[in-house]
Amino acid sequence: MEKTLSIVKPDGVEKRLVGEVIKRFEDNGLKVIGLKMVAMSKREAEGFYAVHRGKSFFESLTTFMSSGPAVVMVLEGDNAIERVRDLMGATDPQEAAKGTLRRQFGSNIERNVVHGSDGPDTAGFEIGYFFHALEIAR
Ligand code: CMP
Repeated sequence: MEKTLSIVKPDGVEKRLVGEVIKRFEDNGLKVIGLKMVAMSKREAEGFYAVHRGKSFFESLTTFMSSGPAVVMVLEGDNAIERVRDLMGATDPQEAAKGTLRRQFGSNIERNVVHGSDGPDTAGFEIGYFFHALEIAR
């Protein structure tokens, strides 16, 4: 069983999409094994997106991610990382496939409603960034 981290970003929370996103994951074979709402500071958002430091969108992205509450969750399932990425769709909502979360609900490449880990190493880092071992169901 693989684990991945997903975030309902501040735009998704603002649009009341928390339940919709979780339902989409649960209906597609993923199990929620960790879940909470967080209010990231700018510093904390910068730490989470450290791999993107130096990129043109880093400042705007981390300001947005610290602009309001987000819901972070750990999901488990066969092929969880890829499965979540398929359900989210491409980063840019305009390029995302029909029926995906980002295509349906995203406003633009930054305000794209959800985040999902892009590989096993990032999933490990990202889960550890938000969750203590005791906060994950076993
Ligand atoms: P996410 O999956 O959370 O990972 C990094 C985020 O940076 C990405 O989704 C986008 O919301 C955001 N972003 C903003 N501009 C870009 C861009 N030009 N390329 C990639 N990601 C971008």
